[in-house]
Amino acid sequence: MTYKHRPIIDTLAGYKQGKPAPTSPGRRTFKVSSNENPFEPLESVVEAIEERSLVHLNRYPDMQGWAVVERLAKETNVSPGNIVLGCGSTEVITQLVGLVSGPGDEIVYPWRSFEAYPIIVAGAGATSVQIANLPDGSHDVDGLIAAVNDRTRLVIVNNPNNPTATSLSDGDARRLMDAVPSDVLVLFDEAYFQFNTDSCTSVAMDLFREYPNVVIAHTFSKAYGLAGLRIGYAIAPEDVVEGMRKVALPFGVTDVAQVAALASIDAYEELSDRVKSIVSERNRVVSALRRQGWDFPEPYANFFWLPLGAQTDKAAEAFVQAGLSVRVFGGEGIRISIGETEANDLVIDVCKGLKSAGL
Ligand SMILES: Cc1ncc(COP(=O)(O)O)c(C=O)c1O
Repeated sequence: MTYKHRPIIDTLAGYKQGKPAPTSPGRRTFKVSSNENPFEPLESVVEAIEERSLVHLNRYPDMQGWAVVERLAKETNVSPGNIVLGCGSTEVITQLVGLVSGPGDEIVYPWRSFEAYPIIVAGAGATSVQIANLPDGSHDVDGLIAAVNDRTRLVIVNNPNNPTATSLSDGDARRLMDAVPSDVLVLFDEAYFQFNTDSCTSVAMDLFREYPNVVIAHTFSKAYGLAGLRIGYAIAPEDVVEGMRKVALPFGVTDVAQVAALASIDAYEELSDRVKSIVSERNRVVSALRRQGWDFPEPYANFFWLPLGAQTDKAAEAFVQAGLSVRVFGGEGIRISIGETEANDLVIDVCKGLKSAGL
């Protein structure tokens, strides 16, 4: 059917969700394609949902999620007026892009990076200005700076970057902040910051206290393991938060998600131990692959990136055969999440086989 619509949408690839674990009767298979937390939900979180939330599913949630906002404000030492929730940080980023841009405006961001950025920008009717990462997978900060002009409404950086898992240094982040005009916002998408062990990394919270135009996107999906509930938040200047609330999806953040977020903040220590064990598994996998001779960017997230180029599809097949769904970027490389110990062992085995086969 022909119908009137915006032609830009026809050019979008659309979001490709990580595939579920392959089916293979008689053996365990694993999903390491979506950078999820492999641990099951905490018992305390499930109990909180059952006790405090399921009883009033017939009611709309608190639209702004004040209890969560106030708690996060306390935890991060900012005012509640600096925090806005979204159904996942994806929605928070959508709010921000919708607030600052429309037709004729430009959003500058690194590429490859989080695949929702081009979709969100096109959704707002604005123009994506994608700056290719450096050969080591890190942001080209000089390129990002050079792309800023009078039409720029937002610069996005992703630290650690999805899918390359690289970290943005404090020096590079400050160079960017010093170069961008103070009335142009800079979004630090830090979905994976809890896994970032880089001693030189930029810390967006520090920059937020020093620069007037910093916005931070954080999520409960990764370190907190609540991907299925869809809750994230931004920390931003108060007038930016006001604008974001106006364009937010009304009632987008469910009461179940709000209760789970509060219970997860209460369980911070337990969740931090899980993060530590994921980081330790990441280090184990990376060391094993380095010993096998693999060359790839040092990962600072709960995933790593194999830049396989033309060999990508061949390698992808080996992972599926072994019972692993990985995230394949055709012709570029494969992103692999750190999963259960058994899944990580399988990843190491497949990589060994690929190396023996000459990759
Ligand atoms: C870099 C980055 N930002 C944001 C998100 C969004 O996460 P969510 O919408 O689940 O909070 C993701 C999810 O994969 C991501 O990789």
